Amino acid sequence: APAPLPQPIAADDLDALRIAARACRACPLWEPATQTVFGEGPEDAETVLIGEQPGDQEDLAGRPFVGPAGQVLDRALGELGLPREAMYLTNAVKHFKFEPRGRMRLHKRASVAEQNACRHWLDAEIRRVKPRRIVCLGATAAQAVFGRDFALLRERGRWIELDAHTRAFATVHPSYLLRLPAHEQDAGYAAFVRDLALLRDAA
Ligand code: URA
Repeated sequence: APAPLPQPIAADDLDALRIAARACRACPLWEPATQTVFGEGPEDAETVLIGEQPGDQEDLAGRPFVGPAGQVLDRALGELGLPREAMYLTNAVKHFKFEPRGRMRLHKRASVAEQNACRHWLDAEIRRVKPRRIVCLGATAAQAVFGRDFALLRERGRWIELDAHTRAFATVHPSYLLRLPAHEQDAGYAAFVRDLALLRDAA
């Protein structure tokens, strides 16, 4: 079960949540990480984008999607004429999980327990922003929103109604595109843009 919110906290105030999340100790990931990377964007954003967890550069900057994956995302949004500044960007897990490898820090997937420990932050962000649309980037985000049975590659790229106010879809994570073999990158990127075009057509 998700860890309880630290008290006292006004659970509907994004700034209070952001500050409280800095001190989160609900799982061990806080310790080697530089800082909590909370979501950012307008509180009244109509679209929430959810990634997996901060990467190396996000951990250092304290902001989501500022590294290589963020550049792929920015390029795709730019091609579609969708302003990133109008969206609320966040992650399913708010700390960078990594394995030291020489001077590098290699991304490691957060465990289910770590994902669950972080879950109440994402839930609180969504409750506060009340978006019309949610985009899940990758399987971790998709499973946080749709449940553990969600099969990304089968169910990507189509709207799913969450409630009367909000619908959501999933697509691949931009860092998955960066890992594809060179001859698959163009097609992978094109499919990513095609999925994100659902947002433009919904706006
Ligand atoms: N990958 C993510 O999932 N989120 C980020 O913020 C950066 C990279």
